[in-house]
Amino acid sequence: MGAYEDVFRSSTDDPEGFWLGAARSLDWHVEPTRALDGSNPPFYRWFPDGELNVCHNALDRHVDGGRGDRAALVYDSPVTGTKRTYTYAQLRDEVARFAGVLAGLGVGRGDRVVIYMPMVPEAAVAMLACARIGAVHSVVFGGFAAKELAVRIDDAQPEVIVSASCGIEGKRVIEYKPLLDRAIELATHKPTKRVILARPQADAEMGPDDVDWAEAMAAAEPADCVPMKATDPLYILYTSGTTGKPKGVVRDGGGYAVALAWSMPNVYDVGAGETIFTASDVGWVVGHSYIVYAPLLAGATTVLYEGKPVGTPDAGQFWRVIAENGVKSMFTAPTAFRAIKKEDPDGAFTRKYDLSGLRYLFLAGERLDPETHRWASDLLGIPVIDHWWQTETGWPIVANPAGIELLEIKPGSPTRPLPGWDVRVLDGSGNPVEPGTDGAIVVKLPMPPGALPTLWNDDERFVRSYVSTFDGFYLTGDGGRIDADGYVYVMGRTDDVINVAGHRLSTGGMEEVLASHPAVAECAVIGVADRMKGQVPRGFVVLKAGVEVDEEALRAELVQLVRDQVGAVASLKEVAVVPALPKTRSGKILRKTMRGIADGLDEPVPSTIESADVLDALRPVLRRD
Ligand code: COA
Ligand code: AMP
Repeated sequence: MGAYEDVFRSSTDDPEGFWLGAARSLDWHVEPTRALDGSNPPFYRWFPDGELNVCHNALDRHVDGGRGDRAALVYDSPVTGTKRTYTYAQLRDEVARFAGVLAGLGVGRGDRVVIYMPMVPEAAVAMLACARIGAVHSVVFGGFAAKELAVRIDDAQPEVIVSASCGIEGKRVIEYKPLLDRAIELATHKPTKRVILARPQADAEMGPDDVDWAEAMAAAEPADCVPMKATDPLYILYTSGTTGKPKGVVRDGGGYAVALAWSMPNVYDVGAGETIFTASDVGWVVGHSYIVYAPLLAGATTVLYEGKPVGTPDAGQFWRVIAENGVKSMFTAPTAFRAIKKEDPDGAFTRKYDLSGLRYLFLAGERLDPETHRWASDLLGIPVIDHWWQTETGWPIVANPAGIELLEIKPGSPTRPLPGWDVRVLDGSGNPVEPGTDGAIVVKLPMPPGALPTLWNDDERFVRSYVSTFDGFYLTGDGGRIDADGYVYVMGRTDDVINVAGHRLSTGGMEEVLASHPAVAECAVIGVADRMKGQVPRGFVVLKAGVEVDEEALRAELVQLVRDQVGAVASLKEVAVVPALPKTRSGKILRKTMRGIADGLDEPVPSTIESADVLDALRPVLRRD
């Protein structure tokens, strides 16, 4: 048996021993005596009697251990021309002081803090400061519009919001403060205070409830870490579901910290003193886990990069960051590599930099297409490792565990399940399928530490969304298969969630916006294949009877409406006005059939269709004939 098989088997033979052993890599105020509390399925709790502080483990533990002068976080921002390194001691001090700011504003254990920030180190400081005093952070991605932020504010009910005067998108300065003010206007819940980081690129108009970050820091007393139950929530991270209302994924501190600390050496092969560069955003789970928490828990150096892979200033920035920081493992989404490939197909920029320290490229967030896999592998000459996970799971479900044993890479497969993940494929009736046969990918309960224990204030939606379709299994929402060698293949979502440039979005949410237009009778939004972004949304609207409109103006208006209400990140650029939408006899819009035709597949006409004529009329529009 190989090393991977050994480790996997030990996690299934003795999960208690395996995870209690993994927990020993952390400092605990109260050591856990039990790993799993399974007394109230489907709600599983990890390390129920343990107490720890995640910020202590990410920062103070390393400083106390004499490693305070090691680099913890490198802020690299080509869009502002800034590069700054924080040692562990410096980052601990910043975090402790900001924790003091929050405490001074009345934030305590269990209170929520919404963080709406661009990719600046202060975003990580705010997250860790919450963890330090037991507050629950909820980071909202900066590309979401005011309304999306308002929905999250109403759900999380924060005491305080932390934001900045602006973000920077290439050469564009995006003012955040007007978006924040608008969101607070729209929200029913009103936070008591907002802390605003003033950036030189834009001024923020400050109101009576706004606190200037720098002034507050200058006046604050540092705050200490407070012991928290392992089962207390560390954060809420909203993610797109089938409807417009996002799901508030809850993450408990203890299980998450144990899983992340395990994953750093075993999956990413990164240990103390080594550097990982994760090019994502703190607003996504990849940013939470592998820009902020996991690298710091491991005592490694993390690079927080503000910018795109291409554009400002050029397509060589990832290579520059790798060379300048001696990056060992890089992690990003395949779409970033497609963007680089488009700008620099021969990889000329790679030859400008010394990339000899780079050992692995990890990709996740969307399906890794074989062409991008091949291009990246040939270009870099290192293992390019696809791996699969979700906001809900917090860390990888399926990966090639480079730190244990590099398994044979089969293009198209993110490889094999990691310890704790009992991955199965079921048919529509809940029966296991034969190896190599497609079905719904599920995970047998309980899931390992780090996976969501529930949804914020919504146990009922947790049960309905994830664990009621197949009794005893977590529904991932992805379809795919497992081959005879145990390799998992993830083919795509089976629900109305799409992945646009590695960003998870809800077509249902966009449909709600289109449907709100007074001229629209009904609509559908589908995700169609896109060479650069993987998928992009396309909208189709049917007008109300008798409504006379300038179609071109309406299309532009609808595109703008989605941009204003969901955010630029929705990337909805195309809306078609059509006479009718294809439906089943029971009235369900045939989105899957539409998607297949738009993607150029030979899609069979479902026998349940109400009228094949409607579909025939739509075909040229879908195919853009
Ligand atoms: N704040 C404000 N606007 C934002 C934003 C933010 N944080 N993030 C994205 N946007 C805007 C973009 O500027 C763009 O606006 P535009 O329509 O006016 O051009 C729009 O939202 C769509 O953004 P995106 O889909 O990211 O497209 P892009 O062309 O700007 O960049 C990539 C494409 C591939 C280069 C970029 O998405 C990328 O690097 N992705 C990979 C890494 C990643 O973030 N993965 C996430 C999970 S691992
Ligand atoms: P998110 O919650 O934003 O991380 O998005 C999770 C979804 O992204 C998954 O449910 C998949 O649909 C998709 N995804 C993530 N990683 C992969 C991968 N390696 N291969 C295929 N799809 C992926």
